[in-house]
Amino acid sequence: MLTDTAEKARGLANLPPVQSDSLLQLIALCNADQRPDKIDVGVGVWRDGAGNTPILRTIKAAEQRLVESQVTKSYLGSAGDKRFTELLRPILLGEHADDDRIAGLQTPGGCGALRLGFELIAAANPGSHVHFGAPTWPNHPPIIQSVGLECVEYPYYERGQGVIRFEDMIASLREAAPGDVALLHGCCHNPTGADLSDNQWREVANVVAERGLIPFIDIAYQGFGRGLDEDAFGVRLMLETCDEVVIAQSCDKNFSVYRDRVGSLWIKTGSAETTAKALAHVFQIARQMWSMPPDHGAAAVHIILDDPQLKNDWLQEVALMRDRINALRQRIASADPRLAFIGRQFGMFSMLPLSKEQVVRLRETHAIYMADSGRFNIVGLSDAQVDRFIAAVVEALGA
Ligand SMILES: Cc1ncc(COP(=O)(O)O)c(C=O)c1O
Repeated sequence: MLTDTAEKARGLANLPPVQSDSLLQLIALCNADQRPDKIDVGVGVWRDGAGNTPILRTIKAAEQRLVESQVTKSYLGSAGDKRFTELLRPILLGEHADDDRIAGLQTPGGCGALRLGFELIAAANPGSHVHFGAPTWPNHPPIIQSVGLECVEYPYYERGQGVIRFEDMIASLREAAPGDVALLHGCCHNPTGADLSDNQWREVANVVAERGLIPFIDIAYQGFGRGLDEDAFGVRLMLETCDEVVIAQSCDKNFSVYRDRVGSLWIKTGSAETTAKALAHVFQIARQMWSMPPDHGAAAVHIILDDPQLKNDWLQEVALMRDRINALRQRIASADPRLAFIGRQFGMFSMLPLSKEQVVRLRETHAIYMADSGRFNIVGLSDAQVDRFIAAVVEALGA
């Protein structure tokens, strides 16, 4: 019972103001800009040459089928659409698809998978530290902290030179305590675009295994880098090397269903029995958070992956999205030697070696909107905007 006056005063109206997410602020600024030639390379969605984020034709076809064939919207349970997860299994796990020590479930997007995975880690080992590379996707630290786990940064990227600080990363991971978590980006690193090479993955896997760390891999852009299998190299290597692995996966980009919130969480432990036990915890945690994931997007993905023709068509759509990203990368990289690093990177993002002041000047002078860190979405550019963007960036980099 609340008797203390100060306690009574703590109603909803007394909540402190929230520091708004800087990316959301950027979107609001861009939306408010009336200049017709503004360039939005802040928000992280794939765009076509005309600057649109279209619905994939395979998703449209699947949704059509869904409307015609779905007979109930009754509850599915905390695991969501089990056939969806089953169909995703070989795409993500490759040669490990038949390993009964690995179990997955549907989640509300990659964010849901991340939160659920870290909740599980916190339940198993509340004292563990989560080591993440700097810089990382800005939503990682708050998600980790929200479950009460402590974050530790390891060096990942040297922005000035556009290279991975690999030796520093390895040295830092060697300091991690057994049972700690190493958070890794599966592919298409956000925000840098700098992916580990296959050999670097091997070295990281060895350190992770030697130190008894749990690799937690966030893979939100499979297929946007080198190819679906190539982009899953790190995921599969960790599954081969380590007994305990957590994977947060998202279909929101590679099926272009961002707002439908489609993702999955995967867990590997040392035996099928312990995995089943861990999965029971996962279901219980999911039940407390969202009870069960939204169905529509996953149902559409399920229809595509269950139909060989639609699946083949989707593979072509993914290849088209990837090709556009990589073509834009090459075009920007060849414009100036100082941008050459962009051609060696993968996925939608890269970071320009610009100061915050230079980024703000680009915004004010050229109506170009990117994150203060210099992160920009390569595929945010329409065909008509590329040359103007390159010219403005080269000008900002100076003579
Ligand atoms: C690195 C990374 N992980 C996870 C996500 C989450 O994706 P979703 O929209 O499926 O929650 C994103 C989305 O931007 C991301 O960039």
